[in-house]
Amino acid sequence: MNKDSLINKISSLYLHFPYCIHLCNYCDFYKNKLEDENQIKQFEELLTLQWHEHKRLLSNHKMSFGGLETLYFGGGTPSLWSLSGIDFIKKKLFKDISLANDYEFTLEVDPGTITEKELNKWLELGVNRFSVGVQAYNNKMLEVLDRRHRLNEIESCLKMLQSYDLNFSVDLLIGAPKSSDRNIVTELSSLDDLGASHFSVYILNARANYPLKKYLATDEKIQSEYLSVANFLKSKGYEHYEVSNFAKNQKYSKHNLRYWKYNSVSAVGPNATGLFAFKDRALRFQWKSLSAGYKTEEILGESLLIEKLYMNLRYHGGHKPSELFSDTSAFEQLFNKWKNAGYLSDKAHMGHIILSSEGYLMCDSLMDDIFKEVEF
Ligand SMILES: C[S@@+](CC[C@H](N)C(=O)[O-])C[C@H]1O[C@@H](n2cnc3c(N)ncnc32)[C@H](O)[C@@H]1O
Ligand code: SF4
Repeated sequence: MNKDSLINKISSLYLHFPYCIHLCNYCDFYKNKLEDENQIKQFEELLTLQWHEHKRLLSNHKMSFGGLETLYFGGGTPSLWSLSGIDFIKKKLFKDISLANDYEFTLEVDPGTITEKELNKWLELGVNRFSVGVQAYNNKMLEVLDRRHRLNEIESCLKMLQSYDLNFSVDLLIGAPKSSDRNIVTELSSLDDLGASHFSVYILNARANYPLKKYLATDEKIQSEYLSVANFLKSKGYEHYEVSNFAKNQKYSKHNLRYWKYNSVSAVGPNATGLFAFKDRALRFQWKSLSAGYKTEEILGESLLIEKLYMNLRYHGGHKPSELFSDTSAFEQLFNKWKNAGYLSDKAHMGHIILSSEGYLMCDSLMDDIFKEVEF
């Protein structure tokens, strides 16, 4: 056997860029306010150290880079890294990695943070998918959500992507405070007209000290908003293929599918988390924010089973009980219960549980049903 075939190939990489121009008051992701260019230099120095350490980490686990099938630059606001970033990536990172033939390379973009010249540089680098942090297509909601951009910036950003015929996704937040008169369907309709191939629609997760906590939407409002989103997007030809994700013409997020399928995805950047999935175990690692150190967590046995089951239920690949359990009888009872409640897709059958939009909305409580009924 060829020695190389004994080495596991990494084909997905996430890179975290931790700066934003403005820090939105609801955001819990690791980020810092960008105030001067020196911060970016320090970040690049840290990333260089992490990159070396990352290569050691891969080789310690008998892994190496294969051609990358998915590459994802997330943040923070990675579109702010255009000036020095593209040069840094070419010189430091792309000398160690190559892109596979049918790769997907996604860049997260905040409206108002990318010029046409910068867009062209990212395209030259190989970016072929954009994830735009729109959050609301309505100035009042943008203000409530403490966003820096307004409708005109969203529109010019999306029109620019559309004029280049690029593949782009739009992120939106629902369950926002003071949203009783928000018409999410009108917003979606305009964004669909602007050419989005994909939507990620998240329910706002407010931390304990969120300043607008008392104005948050009720559970009933969140549920009706979520189902309005799902029904409208399905009527426009988008498939509801994961709890928060919708794609037209099968333009799924190939990178995020890796997480939902519980495949290996490596990662670099402050606080970024990667996962190496082996046959009967997995290793999660998370980079520290200010050094090239990382912490690891080994996932085995019951914990591994629960994580896989949870991820499988969340997307259209679904859960096949016989793949994870020797006794599947409890799932047969749950199948009937969930079918009667309307939580299962038309494609689901006893041996393959796939949720409907109503089921995705109830995903956490369906996991509770599993904990009550299934013996792990
Ligand atoms: C970490 S952000 C980075 C992208 C970009 N900076 C932005 O804000 O649009 C990625 C996505 O996470 C979602 N997000 C951020 N904070 C959230 C929260 N508290 N609850 C739910 N989703 C959140 C937003 O939809 C956002 O587009
Ligand atoms: S721009 Fe995005 S990453 Fe930055 S603070 Fe706002 S939500 Fe968080």
